[in-house]
Amino acid sequence: MKFANRVFGSKAIEAVATARATSVPQWDAIANIEDLRAVARSRVPRTFFEYVEAGSYDELTLRANRAALGALELRQRVMVDVSSRVQATTIVDQPVSMPVALAPAGLTGAVHANGEIYAARAAEAFGVPFCLSTMSVCSIEDVAAAVVKPFWFQLYLMKDRGFSRSLIERAHAARCPVLVLTMDLHVEGRRTVDVHNGLGIPPRLTLANILDIAMHPRWALGMLRSKEFTFGNLKDAIRNSGNLGALSEWVKQQFDPSFDRHDLEWVRQLWPGKIIVKGILDPQDAELAVAAGADAILVSNHGGRQLDGAPSTVEAFPAVRDAVGERAELLLDSGIRSGLDLLKALGLGARGCFIGRAYLYGLGAWGEAGVHKALSLISEELDAGMALTGVTDVKMVPRDVLMGRAG
Ligand code: FNR
Repeated sequence: MKFANRVFGSKAIEAVATARATSVPQWDAIANIEDLRAVARSRVPRTFFEYVEAGSYDELTLRANRAALGALELRQRVMVDVSSRVQATTIVDQPVSMPVALAPAGLTGAVHANGEIYAARAAEAFGVPFCLSTMSVCSIEDVAAAVVKPFWFQLYLMKDRGFSRSLIERAHAARCPVLVLTMDLHVEGRRTVDVHNGLGIPPRLTLANILDIAMHPRWALGMLRSKEFTFGNLKDAIRNSGNLGALSEWVKQQFDPSFDRHDLEWVRQLWPGKIIVKGILDPQDAELAVAAGADAILVSNHGGRQLDGAPSTVEAFPAVRDAVGERAELLLDSGIRSGLDLLKALGLGARGCFIGRAYLYGLGAWGEAGVHKALSLISEELDAGMALTGVTDVKMVPRDVLMGRAG
């Protein structure tokens, strides 16, 4: 270093070091999801990047999710033949090439133009399910026309049960085999950063927002060519609501705080396919959901975007697992950023995981190719993790793959 300083001068060395530290990785240098995040940050306008990143209120639960995963230790096993390793399995009887599904995310089409379509295509090519949000930009029909294999649909039950029924019927007509019913958004947790950025319906058009978009011309051009600019699934409601301001009121009023297990039973009667109940953290809620007909329980705190102060999903999972037993499949999300995180969740007893931000970063970075990259990274990490823990099949991950956990 002293020699380099003498030859190039310390200022020049410092400049190169700073440039390296702040530079955005190129495609070939992408090593993990954090790298995709760095690229997404440079390509997506700040308002929308921060919308993806954010947790609610003080973001305690957002951080707890990562901390709890980080605190779990994997048990290294090397005296085992691991020459064959299998990631393929099923989730609610649907074959998957790896135990992962792309989580529903509202406004995915604002992260990248036609984002839902690109994410669905990447998932299809990879062999994992894509779950479309009720609050997507591209509609159920737009996504159905863009893929061959049916995707999954996430439902927010609206107060207007007629409209909810029509969403269920549209998902059925699009041949969605699985309905993901989200239970933890009957009121909306506040994300401070979205308030500061003016992200609402309609978005607040501030000078900062306009500059933000102007500084991301690739994103803006894509948007100009995109199929949709609003909530594609709610178009009929929008038509009835007249303008964006009225839509805002409609959406706010439509989240239903009366939603309980009776409504789940109502959905169960309407939906012939599988139902995954999403947003469960408590064993009693899990019991109620199973009794009302859930085929799977997704232990989730909405990626730390709803009840701040709720436990991490790693903390909440064991009690739910013990309450449900074999009566329903168990899934986990919130905080999964790598194949090693995924392996830990499988060790806790999850059949598979949903990933949200991990694929949204890929989408913001490189669209469809970026989502595929995110899935490949996770699969490679899972494979290495399995090899070093003596695990040969994702369907048979022993509990004691985690240090200190009984076998
Ligand atoms: C979400 N999530 C979500 N969940 C849902 O049921 N319907 C939705 O419309 C949304 N929208 C949404 C937008 C964004 C930007 C994020 C990040 C998340 C929650 C999502 O399905 C999932 O539970 C979390 O993303 C999981 O946490 P990680 O993987 O993002 O840490």
